[in-house]
Amino acid sequence: MSTEETQRKLNRYFSEKLDEFGATPRGVDYNGPEAQERRFEQLVKVIDPSRPFTVIDYGSGYGAMFDFLNKMGWQFEYYGVDLIEKMVLAGRESHKNFPNAHFTTNDRELPVADYLLAGAIFNIKLDETYENWQSFVVETLERMNELCSRGFSFNMLTKYSDPDRVALRPDLFFGDPLFFFDQCKRRFSRNVALLHDYGLYDFTILVRKDM
Ligand SMILES: C[S@@+](CC[C@H](N)C(=O)[O-])C[C@H]1O[C@@H](n2cnc3c(N)ncnc32)[C@H](O)[C@@H]1O
Repeated sequence: MSTEETQRKLNRYFSEKLDEFGATPRGVDYNGPEAQERRFEQLVKVIDPSRPFTVIDYGSGYGAMFDFLNKMGWQFEYYGVDLIEKMVLAGRESHKNFPNAHFTTNDRELPVADYLLAGAIFNIKLDETYENWQSFVVETLERMNELCSRGFSFNMLTKYSDPDRVALRPDLFFGDPLFFFDQCKRRFSRNVALLHDYGLYDFTILVRKDM
C-alpha cells in the first residue's frame, strides 16, 4: 500500500472518530482527557514561555493544544494545521472567540513559527510496513524542522512497550526512541532531549535549536 493510500484511510479513520465523539479527546482517538493532557505537558517543555511566542500545532485535530496553552496563561499566536478539513472547521468553530487561534489544512500557508508541536500524529500506520512508516516519519520531521526557528517536539508510541501489546496491534507504529533521538541529533540540532519517564507507552522528543 502506498503512503498516500494509507493517509487517505487514516483521514477516514480520524473523520469517523470526530463524527462519533465530536471535539473531545476521544474525537481524536485518545482514551480520555488525562491521556491527552499528560502528553501535552511533555510536548510544551520545548517552549520558553517567559516571552510571547508563535507556535504551530502540527496535526492539531480540533485544537485541544490551544486550550492547554491558554490555560497556562501564556501569550502566544497559535497556528493549527490538520489534513482533515472537518478537524480544521471544528477547531475554527470552537475557537472563534480567540483572535490568536488560526487553523488551516494547508501547511504551505503556515508562517515559520518559534515552536512546533506534534502530538500523536505518527501512532497509526495501518498496513504500512514498519520501514516505510519510519521513513515517512523522518520526512515529516524534516518538514516540521523547516517550519520553526526555536524548536519542536513530537511524541509517539514506544517499541519499549509490553511485547504482547506490540504483537497484538500491527496497525500501530511503535517507534524506536533511540533511532529518532539519533536522527534528530544528526539532522536538526545538537540539543535534543528524549523523555521516556512519564509512565505511558510512548516517548517525547524535544529539539531545541536556539541555545
Ligand atoms: C491522534 S490525532 C491528535 C490531534 C492533536 N494533536 C491532539 O493531540 O489532540 C492526529 C491528528 O493528526 C492529523 N495528522 C496526521 N498527520 C498529519 C500531517 N502530516 N499533517 C497534518 N495533520 C496530520 C490527523 O488528521 C489527526 O487529526
